[in-house]
Amino acid sequence: MAATAIADNVWAIGVTDSELRVFDIIMETKTGTTYNSYLVRGEKAALIDGSKLEFQDEWFANIEKVMPLTEIEYLIVNHTEPDHSGSYPELLRRHPKIKIICAAPAVPFVNNVINTEADITGVKDNHELDLGGKKFIFKATPYMHWPDTMMEYLVEDKILFSCDGFAAHIGTGELYDDELSDKIDMDWEVKYYYDCIMRPFSGYIRRNLPKLDEFDIKMVAGSHGPIQRKEPRRYINQYQEWVAEKYDQDVAVVYASNYGNTGAMAKIIDSELQKAGVSTAMVDMTALDEARGRDVIERSRAVAIGTPTFNGDAVKPVWDFIGLFASVYSIGKKAAVFGSYGWGGEGIKLVADRLSGMKLKVYENQLRTRLVASETENADTKAFAAGFGEFVASGKK
Ligand code: FEO
Repeated sequence: MAATAIADNVWAIGVTDSELRVFDIIMETKTGTTYNSYLVRGEKAALIDGSKLEFQDEWFANIEKVMPLTEIEYLIVNHTEPDHSGSYPELLRRHPKIKIICAAPAVPFVNNVINTEADITGVKDNHELDLGGKKFIFKATPYMHWPDTMMEYLVEDKILFSCDGFAAHIGTGELYDDELSDKIDMDWEVKYYYDCIMRPFSGYIRRNLPKLDEFDIKMVAGSHGPIQRKEPRRYINQYQEWVAEKYDQDVAVVYASNYGNTGAMAKIIDSELQKAGVSTAMVDMTALDEARGRDVIERSRAVAIGTPTFNGDAVKPVWDFIGLFASVYSIGKKAAVFGSYGWGGEGIKLVADRLSGMKLKVYENQLRTRLVASETENADTKAFAAGFGEFVASGKK
């Protein structure tokens, strides 16, 4: 990419990484990506975001096409992940007097990136920065997708600089969404980016999005992919839909069962919950793929997990399912753990501990039944279901 004017005295100065095929270990990038950065000039000038380390020479060259680096007053840091901050140590070396503006939680991160003395200001919602003829309004947008993330609106040009929000990994070189060829499905790319990067934080995003309502947005200039001007609010609206709370049931009873004993416990729990007026879904974990597993977690207010114990541990499908909790927003979700066992039944506690470690609210009673349940044990299972039902109902919105 070159330095290209996108508005009066506003330039896109980012770089294209067309060779990248995997981003953040977890995400396929079929056409690569871009590390977008912008330069805004009023009476003073401000840089917005940087580049990955490997691309910093091109990034510095793009800046110098617009103006000398040392005449820039501010660096606005929307997020400190290395794909945007890799060029900052060299930037500070070349221009130690640049003033850094970032969200308040980003201050320690910035220090850990630049590792040198600098003028850093951590800002909060609605902080304004007037460059003289160009005014920014900042909005903290924590966990979109790091705690440090912020966005800013450029008042005169109606541009929202949205950091990773609403972004897509598209590295085909077009500056604007309306210039993409038919071969690129931008809707799919934005959703894929959301699923991989943003979905674990949907609860935070739900709280952040209303902050953007006040802005009349003409362009969304994010940190990856083309600038969105065709339908500027398209992906903000899509995010609103994706992060909305939608529950199919109160409790998903999700279990794995080898000889049918844990499955029998799941049936009793399911039935007792229903009798108590709690809506449920029984889900055999071994029949779940990842996408459906994520949906089950997201679309249930609470989850009861049934696991057998094998060789002192829960079984692999259970761990695979539990791994999915980290890929959706599950902080504070209520959970319970139960299972049948033959020797020690250690898997049940291991699962409960892991869920607690992932910040779920785990029902304090764990239920273990040895081999084939007796009548007394079935009564215990019914009592467990009743107690969990009450736990789920407590504090329900
Ligand atoms: Fe594009 Fe979260 O860095």
